[in-house]
Amino acid sequence: MIGVRRTLSTVQWTQIGLRSSAMSPATASASERREELRQAYRDAAACERCPQLVQTRHSVVFGAGNADADLMFIGEAPGQSEDELGLPFVGRAGALLDELLSGIGLDRGDVFITNVLMCRPPANRDPHPNEVERCSDWLWRKINLVRPEVVCTLGNFATKLLRDDQTGITRLRGRPEERTLGTLNVRLLPLFHPAAALYTPSNVELLREDFKRIPELLALPPLEQAAVDPEAELGAPVVAEPAPAVERPPGDQLGLF
Ligand code: URA
Repeated sequence: MIGVRRTLSTVQWTQIGLRSSAMSPATASASERREELRQAYRDAAACERCPQLVQTRHSVVFGAGNADADLMFIGEAPGQSEDELGLPFVGRAGALLDELLSGIGLDRGDVFITNVLMCRPPANRDPHPNEVERCSDWLWRKINLVRPEVVCTLGNFATKLLRDDQTGITRLRGRPEERTLGTLNVRLLPLFHPAAALYTPSNVELLREDFKRIPELLALPPLEQAAVDPEAELGAPVVAEPAPAVERPPGDQLGLF
């Protein structure tokens, strides 16, 4: 196992307004994890950690797909269409992602798709490091609740964040590696970002080639997971005031199955 990510403390969970519960994602059932994911979605809708993004966003794009997916994709940040619709990858890059998924016999109902940032940076500027840091708590939460076996990082931002390393995507793409994200051992596959690939047709072909690694990775036996002490994982249960949630039916955005 090469990389090790920090585990969030109780204080960090509650700082971002997440309901703290005694639930351990490692031992919870799929339906318990899905409920917790829905709660995270409701809490995230009220997130105000990034002062500029709160002013300009229309939606908090939490992520969508199968809450118990074996395969998770992590892009950079919502663009204009995603911000308008509240769903990840619904523009041109999303159409390419759909096509690539279909090429390996999958669709959005089989996977969970999210981003490093949940709010659109104005004029699609790059995420600022402090925004990535603030939003990363939500991302670890999602990863540890969905518990995918394979995580595909799309582009530099997700790859650098999840590998905790500045090596660029051009060197890493298509090369799977084992990583520990939060408390979860996964196979990580860095891929070109579909939007970036659209600028360079030869990169679409490379992305298509790299996608072919995904079925192989999904067919491997699951990685062993460390025995988890729930108290170490999520912290002791505390009674924390949940952040005021914006009421919106979770199913609308999550499309949970
Ligand atoms: N690009 C991303 O990184 N994410 C989206 O959701 C859409 C475009």
